[in-house]
Amino acid sequence: MSQPLILAIESSCDETAAAVVAGGARLLSNVVLSQIPVHQLYGGVVPELASREHLRGIVPVVRQALEKAGVELSQMDAIAATHGPGLVGALLVGLTYAKSISTAINKPLLCVNHLAGHIHAVLLDRRNQGLDEPGFPALALVVSGGHTTLYLVEREGERFSYRTLGKTRDDAAGEAYDKVAKLLALGYPGGPVIDQLAALGNERAVPFTRARMKGNPFDFSFSGIKTAVLRYVQVHGMAESIEARRRALGPGRPTLDRLKPLCDPQTLDLVASFQHAVVEDLVAKTLGAANEAGVQSILLTGGVAANKRLRLELTSRGAEAGIPVYAPPLSLCTDNAAMIAAAAWPLYLAGQWAGLDAAAYAQLPLDAFRSMPAPDAAPSSRHTPGE
Ligand code: KG4
Ligand code: ZN
Repeated sequence: MSQPLILAIESSCDETAAAVVAGGARLLSNVVLSQIPVHQLYGGVVPELASREHLRGIVPVVRQALEKAGVELSQMDAIAATHGPGLVGALLVGLTYAKSISTAINKPLLCVNHLAGHIHAVLLDRRNQGLDEPGFPALALVVSGGHTTLYLVEREGERFSYRTLGKTRDDAAGEAYDKVAKLLALGYPGGPVIDQLAALGNERAVPFTRARMKGNPFDFSFSGIKTAVLRYVQVHGMAESIEARRRALGPGRPTLDRLKPLCDPQTLDLVASFQHAVVEDLVAKTLGAANEAGVQSILLTGGVAANKRLRLELTSRGAEAGIPVYAPPLSLCTDNAAMIAAAAWPLYLAGQWAGLDAAAYAQLPLDAFRSMPAPDAAPSSRHTPGE
């Protein structure tokens, strides 16, 4: 029997994405339309523009995902969509389109938490390559532009549950990258460019102090370092050279080759020291929580998990501590719909369908998300598996 096919849609922020995954394991297509060119003029995501761009992109992106997978819409066994957390206007575009497709082909609708998606990207990557899956319980560091959270992930067969062990109290790590890049006129988004420029500077040049957290030692805070970078810029009179760079670059996303000659050693040292401090903090808390929780593995995921330094540090220090670290390839780290299809798989197996009344949520804690209906809760839709 052929494996069930899930078409998934992701539209929680600034990527319009669709993917087809077979049997929760085989990636048949993964199409991502990035809105970066639209938002970079503003140095961050503009919610109204995001919704408009999703409306423009959703139909061709879904069509392309089906074409690349070599399948017809009528062959899908379920349609999945992200229903939160994210920008509600943006989420509604993908969710509403998923509802209409699900109705048109009379197949179940599965509503997926975006954060579960990032976690399941790790499993999908292993399954798709035919490699061993991480051991559970696992500690997942979901680190992106909107989130920096440590989850204890437990698994029973294909049922997963999640418990928050630590999270950011203010900015997410990716947000700090983006804000520091904006401040230093390095373009948007800041993560990839700081990742590359940091390799050219001295990471010990600026000794940023680590945020000490009262209460939960596994919580994060990244607003302090952003302010510390601003103060460093003011105290060292860097404003003029930053403005000169801003003028030289003009609007649009600068390439590394254009940026490099416009960055003096002081800027490169500052960027390297910033990255060093952020990565140190992420790695130390992740390993601390992993040891305390006694996990079998660490899952590193979300947009900032694309960071070369973070991947390297966490992988090598995890290995020293005897805890294997799994991080998906870059295309599955940043927002995509394949991860939504992967997180939808346990819901599909559990018959956890959503109804047409499913809503989109700006906030949607993962702790409340179970890939299993509560014992007294009947599936909320008209479909049954295999219908
Ligand atoms: O997961 P994602 O695509 O969207 C959210 O759910 O937020 O993450 C986007 C974030 C941005 O803040 C971006 O600057 C950051 O991930 N990012 C990186 C890197 N690539 C993307 N941060 C550090 N290093 C990178 N290489
Ligand atoms: Zn994300």
